[in-house]
Amino acid sequence: MTSSTQARTAELGPVASVRAETLSMPGDKSLSHRAIMFGSLARGTSSYTNMLAGEDCVCTRRAFEAMGVRITSPDPTRVTIEGAGFDGLRQPPADLYMGNSGTSMRLLLGILAGQPFTATLTGDPSLSSRPMRRVTAYLRQMGAVIDGRDDANYAPLTITGGALKGMDFKLNVSSAQVKSALLLAGLRASGTTSVAEPVLSRDHTERFLRHYGARVDVEGLAVRVTGGQSLMARSFEIAGDISSAAFFIAIGCLVPQADIRLRNVLWNPTRTGIIDVLRRSGADLTVERTAESGPEPVADLRVRPGRLRAFVVERQELPALIDEVPILSVLATQAEGVSVFRDADELRVKETDRIRSMIELLTRMGAKAWAEGNSLFVEGPCQLSGADLESYGDHRTAMSGIVAALIAKGRTRMRDIDCINTSFPSFFELLGQLGIPYEIG
Ligand code: S3P
Repeated sequence: MTSSTQARTAELGPVASVRAETLSMPGDKSLSHRAIMFGSLARGTSSYTNMLAGEDCVCTRRAFEAMGVRITSPDPTRVTIEGAGFDGLRQPPADLYMGNSGTSMRLLLGILAGQPFTATLTGDPSLSSRPMRRVTAYLRQMGAVIDGRDDANYAPLTITGGALKGMDFKLNVSSAQVKSALLLAGLRASGTTSVAEPVLSRDHTERFLRHYGARVDVEGLAVRVTGGQSLMARSFEIAGDISSAAFFIAIGCLVPQADIRLRNVLWNPTRTGIIDVLRRSGADLTVERTAESGPEPVADLRVRPGRLRAFVVERQELPALIDEVPILSVLATQAEGVSVFRDADELRVKETDRIRSMIELLTRMGAKAWAEGNSLFVEGPCQLSGADLESYGDHRTAMSGIVAALIAKGRTRMRDIDCINTSFPSFFELLGQLGIPYEIG
């Protein structure tokens, strides 16, 4: 959901080829959120380039501005933050609106848990129906007071922070949002806080903590921080979003004669699951350069089309590609055999239920896709047909359907595309750069 009142529709058809191009992705969403948060909590001035100007990150930025942090931008992708330090935040004068963004809400809860004031976090209808007890229950144990519907499971949530005690947590779900919220709270707690998860989820918070000068100990799947540490300002270029690059990687794999290069893509092994799967599947993907960009590695990629084999994604591989399942399910329609995403229950609680949304979308396009419990199955290869599709207000469902339309017979209409602005405002501009025609109405 977005602030726009009139839902727009995109219409497009199949393309025989795309222009050979080198594309730069906007800053990674997870990194852009954390850059605003860490820059605000650090001492000193942090400056970033290639920040994502998507609506989700704008919500994070507005929240810190409302708590008194000075943030300036000569343009939306360049941001300078005068860090307030942990002690410099002040009570926001109004509710903090988190829009569609689970990352904003969950990580902010962790930060607010250590602040001696009360704040209320609200969200759009999708965010207000996503489970928050996975964070609030633990933060309550540390000492925060949190109220909200269904025993603090759903926004609006009102949190009063203060003195916290460090604790050891053993999560039953691998979630970087939960892990990050607890580590951020742990920085303000007495003693140490450790968080162990069943499978390693994206480790950006751990990397950011170290990069901004904090000590983090990692032992197997447990991460530990000691309270009372401060953060120091840092400046760097935000790595390109691999979850956004995924749509262009898919175009490179699927459209005949494509030859797409992607520059400075985030290359963190806890995020490159899609690359591992595509390599197993036989895709023609090469890494042309790797480098470091602030706390994270980046790579330049080249993608060309090729025959794909079906793939199996087991539960333990899901965290490294959790946001890429929608576009991987489109790729699976073109792979020989039955592809499986096993026990993907976390997909049920994303911006929409993505098992349901993708089965509906792919079925409407004539593909065979079904669920058994929380496992998603897709059979290929299959000639897709253009169809009338719904985004369900979910940016990744919308972009996945639009990529599928490029290889479908006939025209496709994707309704309610404004949600794409939450993570990828320049998506259509980059389609245009590849010479792909589309109509928006
Ligand atoms: C995110 C973590 C993931 C991901 C989300 C961003 C983050 O969620 O789906 O888009 O920035 O920490 P979970 O780790 O909760 O699955």
